This record gives sequence, C-alpha cells and structure tokens, in this order.
Amino acid sequence: MRTRKLGNTDLELTAIGLGTWAIGGPWQFGWGPQDDADSIRTILTAIDAGINWIDTAPIYGCGHSEYIVGLALREMSEKPLVATKCSLLWNDKREKYSCLDRDSIIAECEDSLRRLGIETIDLYQMHWPVPDEQIEEGWETMAKLAQQGKVRYIGVSNFTVSQLERVSKLHPVASLQPPYSMLRRDIENNLLDYCGKNNIGVVAYSPMQKGLLTGKFSVEHIKTLAPDDHRLRDPNFSGEKFDKNLAIVDKLKSIADRRGKTVAQLAIAWVLRKEEVTAAIVGARKQKQIEETVQAGDWVLSEEDVANIELILS
Ligand SMILES: NC(=O)c1ccc[n+]([C@@H]2O[C@H](COP(=O)([O-])OP(=O)(O)OC[C@H]3O[C@@H](n4cnc5c(N)ncnc54)[C@H](OP(=O)(O)O)[C@@H]3O)[C@@H](O)[C@H]2O)c1
Repeated sequence: MRTRKLGNTDLELTAIGLGTWAIGGPWQFGWGPQDDADSIRTILTAIDAGINWIDTAPIYGCGHSEYIVGLALREMSEKPLVATKCSLLWNDKREKYSCLDRDSIIAECEDSLRRLGIETIDLYQMHWPVPDEQIEEGWETMAKLAQQGKVRYIGVSNFTVSQLERVSKLHPVASLQPPYSMLRRDIENNLLDYCGKNNIGVVAYSPMQKGLLTGKFSVEHIKTLAPDDHRLRDPNFSGEKFDKNLAIVDKLKSIADRRGKTVAQLAIAWVLRKEEVTAAIVGARKQKQIEETVQAGDWVLSEEDVANIELILS
C-alpha cells in the first residue's frame, strides 16, 4: 500500500491505519460485546494485508484495546508502528474522565507501554484538549516523554487551530487526529489548511462514520445492535438525521457500484483524496471487514467521482 510521511517526522505511514476502538469491547462508549479472538485475527490480518500502523487508546475498553493490541504484537515477527493516546482515564465504575496532570500522563504512558508490551510508543497523542487550562502542562509532559525516549513523536487529537498554535510554541506537533468523513467535514474549514501549511500530519478518524458509510445500515440493522452499543445514542443513527444519512449512502452506492467497489471503500478513498491527509484510521472488528476496507488504500478517486460525490453531499 502507498505510504505518506507523517508531517515533519520520519514515520512513513500506510494510507490506512487500523483503528481499534471497537476492539476494546464493552465500556461507557463501547460497541457491544467483542470476541477477543476475532480482534486478534483482525489485527494480524490488517498487518498481513500491508497496513503498517495501529491506532489505539487506553480508554478504549478501559485498557482492553491496548492489551489486545499488545497480544497481537507479540505474535508478529515484524512489528507495525503503534500510536496511542493519553488524557482520558476511567474511575472505579469505568466512567471516563479527563486529566492532563503531569504525574497522571507519566503514569498513563508507563501503563500503555506495559499493556502494549513495547519499549517505545511511535506516536503519542493527547486524546482530547480537556481541561483547556492544562493543555500546556500536558503537552510539556509529553515532550519530556519524547526526550526520554518513551515515545518517538507527539501529536494531538480533537484540537482547534488556536489550540494547535498554543502547543506548537512549546514543541513541534507531529500530527492532528480529527474526525473526517463525508458526513463530518468541519476540518475542511481551516484545520486541513493549517496542518498542510505547518507540515503537521493528519490522521483522520471515523472515515466510515462508525460504519454508517458502509451500506449495511438500515432501520432493521439498527435493531441488531447490542443495547450497550454507543451508536444507539449517536444522533447520526436515529431520527431524521439517520434517514438523511441512509439516503446519501444509497446514492453513494451507485458510484461505488460503477467502479466495482463498496461504499466503505469509497468513503475511505474520499477521505484520502486530500493531500493534507496522511492517512485514514479505519476501524474493524472482524477479519472480513479489514480485508474489504484495506483495498481502499491505493484507490485514487477520479475527478469525476469526486465531483459526483460533492453533488450528493451538497
Ligand atoms: N481521537 C479520537 O477521539 C477518536 C474518535 C473516534 C475514533 N478514533 C480512532 O479512529 C478509528 C476509526 O474510527 P471508528 O472506529 O470510530 O469508525 P469507522 O472506521 O468509521 O468505522 C468502524 C466500524 O465500522 C464497521 N465496519 C468496519 N469495516 C466494515 C465493513 N467492511 N463492512 C461493514 N462494516 C464495517 C465496524 O463496526 P460494526 O461491525 O459494529 O458495525 C467498525 O467498528 C477508531 O477505531 C479509533 O482508533 C479516534
């Protein structure tokens, strides 16, 4: 698969990275029950298929996603790059909270290294800029971890341009991890441009809008989701918005069909059409899913397809 350099780092990332949120299993923002054996097979398949990096976070399943990624890494002779995050923790009831305290981040990093079973994290990202007044403290701590060799590069996630400007003064920002999909385009307003001009890599999350842009969703499919699947609480998956989204997917399907591809592949290739985007982080919880989506990594959309998609989305 084609690779792109991540911002000003020496990391060459494949256009698709594997996202492991759903692999964390049940928690406050989980996706319902997840079979760990399926998860490990999915991760191994992704790497066999040419994906060279994995995105995870401690909060995904309260440590479980990192633990499962760690189990899979131990089975690989050649290890992929690993990106994880800090700032979101959980209490005794497994409810999430935010913290950017110096000591907390240092402890989080040690915990991630232990769960993942690695000595260095390739990309360490501030998951959310919360609390705002602690952003600098958190960022300086992450920079220290880079100096100590615990992590190679540091990046951020869910940041605005002004927050990026604040941290850039203290230490170079390797990457931004924002949401980006056909249904969530706000980074096109100014973030993409800012990152392009400042050589900050962009690793876009939820390119299939949590599975909505795959063609499989319908009123019937929603009924099959586990009661604790957080998508049942996501406004994109209910009411008028859901109906509107399904109508969009229906139209996208005809474009995908014409090219002999799937809607999921189209959604990912569309995110990758932007030169500022280093890679799309593609979530999967089953082997078959990643076997399908990995094929979008080398698909360059024609100008005609991009224009037709624009008409559908406008
Ligand atoms: N930094 C942040 O705040 C943040 C936020 C969100 C995500 N992320 C990262 O970005 C990654 C990707 O985002 P995401 O997982 O939210 O969403 P996504 O990649 O848009 O969608 C992934 C989900 O779609 C379904 N799916 C995947 N491939 C499919 C296929 N071929 N056919 C049908 N369904 C398929 C699976 O769920 P089902 O099978 O259950 O439908 C899968 O969990 C995450 O895993 C995480 O690493 C980061």
